[in-house]
Amino acid sequence: MIKLIKSTFYHEAETKEKLIDFIRSAEILSMSDECKKFETAFTRKQGRKFAVLVNSGSSANLLLVQALLNLGKLKKGDKVGISALTWATNVMPLIQLGLEPVAIDCELNTLNVSSRTLEPYLSSIKALFLTNVLGFSSDIDNIQRLCSDKNIIFLEDNCESLGSRVGGHNLGNFGLASTFSFFVGHHLSLIEGGLVCTDDEDLYNALLLARAHSWDRNLPMNTQRAIRQENNIDDFFARYTFYDLGYNLRPTEITGFLGNTQLPYWDEIVKIRVSNFTTFHNAISVNDDFIPLAVSHMELVSNFAMPVLCRDNDKFIKYRKKFEGQVEIRPIIAGDITKHPFWSKYVSKSYVCPNASFIHNNGFYFANNPELVKEEVDLLCSLLKP
Ligand SMILES: Cc1ncc(COP(=O)(O)O)c(C=O)c1O
Repeated sequence: MIKLIKSTFYHEAETKEKLIDFIRSAEILSMSDECKKFETAFTRKQGRKFAVLVNSGSSANLLLVQALLNLGKLKKGDKVGISALTWATNVMPLIQLGLEPVAIDCELNTLNVSSRTLEPYLSSIKALFLTNVLGFSSDIDNIQRLCSDKNIIFLEDNCESLGSRVGGHNLGNFGLASTFSFFVGHHLSLIEGGLVCTDDEDLYNALLLARAHSWDRNLPMNTQRAIRQENNIDDFFARYTFYDLGYNLRPTEITGFLGNTQLPYWDEIVKIRVSNFTTFHNAISVNDDFIPLAVSHMELVSNFAMPVLCRDNDKFIKYRKKFEGQVEIRPIIAGDITKHPFWSKYVSKSYVCPNASFIHNNGFYFANNPELVKEEVDLLCSLLKP
């Protein structure tokens, strides 16, 4: 059986050995230097100014939305566009924090929202929290331009697309901020973990506050001094002063250490995933039973799972039967998010998203991980034949 997740870490045995040694010798295991070191290294690798590490990708999404509310960039009741094809905790923080999610359909041949599907919503949404689905994108540069023209806050949920590149830029570098997941099976596994990236210093400071109780201890010194002065707080009370709404979403030093151990494998991991993707993509493109993905606009497609979209439901049933038993498969992310029970419970408006709905009913994905061996890649390609 080719499982969705083959191992917890890339270079598993070596990483576990290092982790054991680290835990034995470390004096501090709560958030400290290893987390800071990873944040700095991640910003360099991703090409962003600031990064805030948290305990999951879901927490990264929650933190980002809370920070934007704290800054007054978003207000309760604002409409926020989301991709109809996404993960639950891309949308849930919006509902939890009093915003209104607006489901936007995707393109069948990119699985992503495009400027075409976004167009009807441009005059009503205050922000767009776009999901870069499974390493792909549509015309994200046009989306970025449209959002900028219309003063729409553009955010990327990049939890599925670390390492993918379009037009010379990494996905995750198009919006005001972007979020990442380091859950097992994603590109870099830290067991659990997530991160928010931005180039905006005010947003960075708001993220640092809201990540840990909304106290000022983790702020850079000059910002800490300024916030104390502004609120007239003396140093004795400052350590227990809470400035806005916050959480405890902190990672541990174990997360930071694992990040520093796995990050050097970034290029190697992305290279193998890109190569596997190309092999599977070629197999899919020559079989008329499938709708091939359009990727010529992309420089690198780095995904952790390979989507297969069948032309109709009979073909979906046929290939599902072929794969099941030999290969672990699952719906493409979670299909159309508006079809899930939580959506109708909390969102009164219904949205028609024919492409997301088609993908829900006729698509599945299997693993694309860097540890697939040749026999496994060959088996997967043979299953993709008519
Ligand atoms: C698009 C997207 N956003 C957010 C998440 C949540 O990440 P995590 O599992 O680290 O909480 C996922 C998880 O797979 C995801 O696919």
